[in-house]
Amino acid sequence: MATQERHKQTAKKQSFLNEKELDAIHHWLPYTHRYVFEHPRWMAETAEEVLNLDHPVLGYGSYRIVFDLGNGHVLKVVTRKGGFISNDAEVDIYHRSPVHLRKHLCSVKEYGDGWLIMKKMTEAPEPPVREELGNVVKQFQKESIFPKDLKRENLAVTSKEKIVFIDYGHFYRRRERFWI
Ligand SMILES: Nc1ncnc2c1ncn2[C@@H]1O[C@H](COP(=O)(O)OP(=O)(O)O)[C@@H](O)[C@H]1O
Ligand SMILES: [Mg+2]
Repeated sequence: MATQERHKQTAKKQSFLNEKELDAIHHWLPYTHRYVFEHPRWMAETAEEVLNLDHPVLGYGSYRIVFDLGNGHVLKVVTRKGGFISNDAEVDIYHRSPVHLRKHLCSVKEYGDGWLIMKKMTEAPEPPVREELGNVVKQFQKESIFPKDLKRENLAVTSKEKIVFIDYGHFYRRRERFWI
């Protein structure tokens, strides 16, 4: 199926983004391959300009820019090639994690080529968070998921002070090995 057709199909199925927003993302994505060595801030500023969405920017990291959709959800759009891997990792880890781990993962609501929708989190954890973070990390490790990149801007807390990862694009999940 041609990319354009697939793109239109996604537009019919999804509900968070309208067709104009999907077209803007589709138009932006080739830039992520064209500019490989640019600074993350430059890429985020360029993405914001090219995407020209009607939503305020909430933040950006090395690989993605994040928009506030104003409905309790955020839109993450890839700004550099590595962002595709981060988006795929978040979709994979969120959907494959058991419930007791999933409650520490900011929920992925919808996704498509180069974008994903997550619940919006508003509270950053107050230090000292180290001890609880250590316990949560151990729970993930027990299930062969290895949390990485655990800086403060990648974490949030719920109203009940539970730690939630908002950027788990660098988590590593050990896959089962099959010997033939
Ligand atoms: N679910 C979210 N709720 C609120 N803010 C978020 C959320 N996800 C990301 N952000 C903000 O956007 C920034 C960049 O998102 P992030 O997923 O960390 O991108 P990157 O993979 O480029 O590091 C975060 O540091 C945070 O400030
Ligand atoms: Mg980040």
